[in-house]
Amino acid sequence: MNKPNDLVRTSIDADDIESHASPSEHFNTILAARMSRRNMLRGGAVTAATAIMGSMGLSACGGSDNVAPVVTPPTPAPTEKLLAFSAVPKSLADQVSVPAGYTATAIYALGDSLRAATPAYKNDGTDTDFDNRAGDHHDGMEYFGLSAAGAPLASGAERGLLAMNHEATTDEKLASHFLHVNGGTTSLPRPAAEVDKEVAVHGLSVVEVKKTGTTWATVNDSAFNRRVTPLTDIEISGPVRGNALVVTKYSPTGTKTRGTLNNCGTGKSPWGTYLSGEENWANYFTRSATDDAARGDKSVVALKRYGRNQGATSRHGWETAGTDDKYARWDISKKGTSTDGSDDYRNDMNGMGYIVEMDAYDKTKVIRKRTALGRYAHESAAFSVPAVGQQLAVYMGDDSRNEYIYKFVSNATWLAADANPTDRMATGDKYLDSGKLYVAKLAADGTGQWIELSMSNAQIQAYTAYKFADLADIMVNTRLAADAVGATKMDRPEWCSVNPANGEIYYTLTNNSNRTVNPTGSSQLAPDSANPRAYTDMKGTTAQNGNPNGHIIRFKEGTGAAAATSFTWDVYLFGAESGADSSKINLSSLTADQDFSSPDGLAFSQYTGICWIQTDDGAYTDVTNCMMLAAIPGKVGDGAKSTLNYTTTAGGTLAVDTFIGKKPTADTLKRFLVGPAGSEITGITETPDGKTMFINIQHPGENTSLANINDPTKYTSQWPSNAGYGAGKRPRSATIVITKNDGGRIGS
Ligand code: FEO
Ligand code: CA
Ligand code: CA
Repeated sequence: MNKPNDLVRTSIDADDIESHASPSEHFNTILAARMSRRNMLRGGAVTAATAIMGSMGLSACGGSDNVAPVVTPPTPAPTEKLLAFSAVPKSLADQVSVPAGYTATAIYALGDSLRAATPAYKNDGTDTDFDNRAGDHHDGMEYFGLSAAGAPLASGAERGLLAMNHEATTDEKLASHFLHVNGGTTSLPRPAAEVDKEVAVHGLSVVEVKKTGTTWATVNDSAFNRRVTPLTDIEISGPVRGNALVVTKYSPTGTKTRGTLNNCGTGKSPWGTYLSGEENWANYFTRSATDDAARGDKSVVALKRYGRNQGATSRHGWETAGTDDKYARWDISKKGTSTDGSDDYRNDMNGMGYIVEMDAYDKTKVIRKRTALGRYAHESAAFSVPAVGQQLAVYMGDDSRNEYIYKFVSNATWLAADANPTDRMATGDKYLDSGKLYVAKLAADGTGQWIELSMSNAQIQAYTAYKFADLADIMVNTRLAADAVGATKMDRPEWCSVNPANGEIYYTLTNNSNRTVNPTGSSQLAPDSANPRAYTDMKGTTAQNGNPNGHIIRFKEGTGAAAATSFTWDVYLFGAESGADSSKINLSSLTADQDFSSPDGLAFSQYTGICWIQTDDGAYTDVTNCMMLAAIPGKVGDGAKSTLNYTTTAGGTLAVDTFIGKKPTADTLKRFLVGPAGSEITGITETPDGKTMFINIQHPGENTSLANINDPTKYTSQWPSNAGYGAGKRPRSATIVITKNDGGRIGS
């Protein structure tokens, strides 16, 4: 979801949610001034994919040969110079812009048919059967190679599967307006037919892609094609399985949950499975105005900590569509008389908020929620570089203002044979169901500690705001456990990725409007060493305060590598406008070819070693649409300590020491892509030869008013139809494929 700052809120903003939310503002009521409509700029560098290819009979689901990624240090090809392309200028054009010598083509958009029996998408609000179509708001994405014959093959670079998240929908008021003929209902109750569509466009999809000649296209009716939605049966795995906190009418044994929701960042395991982070799931649920008294137990504390005060209304009102449990489950009020919750959905929200593991190759394998990794607003899940005989780490973040950075360390140590297991999900059981979860505490001297979240931690035992019963309770209420140990509140941790060259971990911290030199109330924080900026950036005449442009922090593990309990850190890059004050704001001295705001997606190429940085911004969008940059970073400690001096309104001074990475040069950071109007750039994956990149364009034209739903001249974007892709002019989230015209690797 787009995330403008608080004052220039241009859309319903499910990303920028306060986790300590105060009562129940409906999205209707938090809609504020909308941006003036941008002129639509036509044309574009993106061309339509060729027609979707015909049915491909496949029988190889579930094979297991050589499917896992090969872990080798990235090496430049002998004649290759990375970042040799010409930087793409900032742009407000309604198109995808890439460097000269590259081609970007849309291949998989909202509503595209996955089955021969499902008709082509008309894109006029009349379409149905979304269980067999691409979902909406494409987000994190991973590529899984296939051989020419269609068998799982990690090195398969010309045929493969794209597994991706469908995070949310574009909405104003209640309905996902582009899905309905006249934009859908704007008051409760919601019609079941509308809700069924909206539910089905959430979740995950798997779609086969294949290269023919130089052209990539999806494979309609591939046996691998698959949709997973908020109604798909999913197993609860790990410490929370069978716990009282996840008992529902749907699963009285607390062993399964219905579906996955608001899936944002992703990960790919060393054994070749897909990991998906559930992010802003809380606001899809409603609670009655009298539910605190009805419950009368500590669950009230937990619900408030996760943003569901009593009286909270749901984002879409799905609970009003009928009496069927598939609608009723969105109301988490205590309604039944049971003591364990087996006769209502009071615990249903405890089934959301996890890292979800799926075998993209094998739809017969049940998807699992890996509860040992904790429950919060998950983004991506990045593995440490596997080393035989060593434990694995999974790095993760919690994207809400003032939330935390986490890592999970497996109990099991890595076996080389597990790169190619016969049962990938069983391998996930081995590495992801038992281990230790840690939260990061960063110190002002550039060091940090990983604090274990377990019942043996004295601070958790002594915590009075919430008494934890057991490890499962910690995994369901991870934010409370992290509060208990005094972890460091960060500027909205988004994606993370491990540099394959040296194992260092990079986290985007997208922005934080609650960072201020003069904090008032519990939600505002003074700048600290790891989140050192609090300043004002103007967007037109609007002042954007806090850390509106975000930064990228990186960690180097101490003794013990993946299992280390201490680390050192510095700030790799500070987002900023190139013209901003380089002593206070543009601390990385970004040039016009490098400046960016609100970093979100971040992934290292396993093949070239390039660090790709994607933005989901609302602060700099008066000047440029969101973008993707290519970087060749150095390492933790390659820069210098710096002190930022602030003056408080009371006349006091505040000196904040921070550590700034070596400033980038024109050869080490360069803008590679700018997206269409209103979109964020997200979801990045590559073929294992490094020659084909897939990324996602999410929510183009998201600021289009519901009132203009049938007037294409007033859409704020017409992408991808203006690039020749698909029917209708309603803007659509879509996957694009990027290739280099000379056949070289992406980023060279
Ligand atoms: Fe879905 Fe925090 O981005
Ligand atoms: Ca500005
Ligand atoms: Ca994100």
